[in-house]
Amino acid sequence: MATIERTQSGHVATLTINRPDKLNALNAEVLAELRATLAGLVTESTTGDPGCATRAVVLTGAGKAFVAGADIAAMAAMTTTEAARFSEVGHALCAALEAAPFPVLAAVNGFALGGGLELALACDFILAADTAKVGLPEVTLGVIPGFGGTQRLARRIGLGRARELVYTGRMVTAEEALRLGLVNEVVPGAELLARATKVAEQIGAVGPLAVAAAKRAMLHGSEIALGPACELERQAFAGLFGTEDQRTGMAAFLAKQKATFAGK
Ligand code: COA
Repeated sequence: MATIERTQSGHVATLTINRPDKLNALNAEVLAELRATLAGLVTESTTGDPGCATRAVVLTGAGKAFVAGADIAAMAAMTTTEAARFSEVGHALCAALEAAPFPVLAAVNGFALGGGLELALACDFILAADTAKVGLPEVTLGVIPGFGGTQRLARRIGLGRARELVYTGRMVTAEEALRLGLVNEVVPGAELLARATKVAEQIGAVGPLAVAAAKRAMLHGSEIALGPACELERQAFAGLFGTEDQRTGMAAFLAKQKATFAGK
């Protein structure tokens, strides 16, 4: 892939968006390659040896930006039809990140603006470098977020705060993003990737079927009423019993040992 670098260490895959001369701006090529790389990881994790599969992904950017937005040069002359298609592709990528059977952590190393923040918001959670700046500046260009930002930002930080950021288009620092609950943790830039990898490794060491079930329940449950959401959890909880992971995990606890999960 020309614009996406993938490295693998045990159960953790790191994907780096690599178009630093344009601050990793999302054009059709980047969107397609990220989608294809993600699809490859999902296929490997569902059809390959579950003992070797990817169990957590770190998504980051090369250079001084995570992603400085959708590619403005590519969008400038788009027709309504082309814009609709571009938005559809961005939405599909964000939906694929949310639907992946493993958590995806955004390691926001610098600017995460517009489509870049929207991508990060489709990840399970965000860790940010202390120098990062994030925002949805689309209104400064005469448009609105088109990859889910008006919806996912509000769900992440609440409607009032999201409205302020969307209507002004202002950028916030990593510290303010932490206060807003937009990012989970802020770390010195030089330590970001190591910290994100460590969290991903922690996730990679626990029961992968359980993590996938928790991800599904939390995503779908957050979109429906509490009653049906709890029912969803109940079914997912029961469904894990009888799996090798459940037997291994509980037997290891009772034997005072550390479990090694097979992912089955
Ligand atoms: N789309 C296309 N190109 C972009 C881009 C984007 N969203 N963001 C940055 N670039 C390009 C710049 O045009 C420049 O290209 P050039 O060297 O060929 O001129 C290159 O990336 C470096 O950006 P530059 O603006 O010179 O860096 P900077 O450090 O001075 O400023 C930002 C950084 C992030 C403040 C600034 O690039 C910016 O405002 N980008 C657009 C952010 C935005 O509105 N995103 C939402 C899009 S919907």
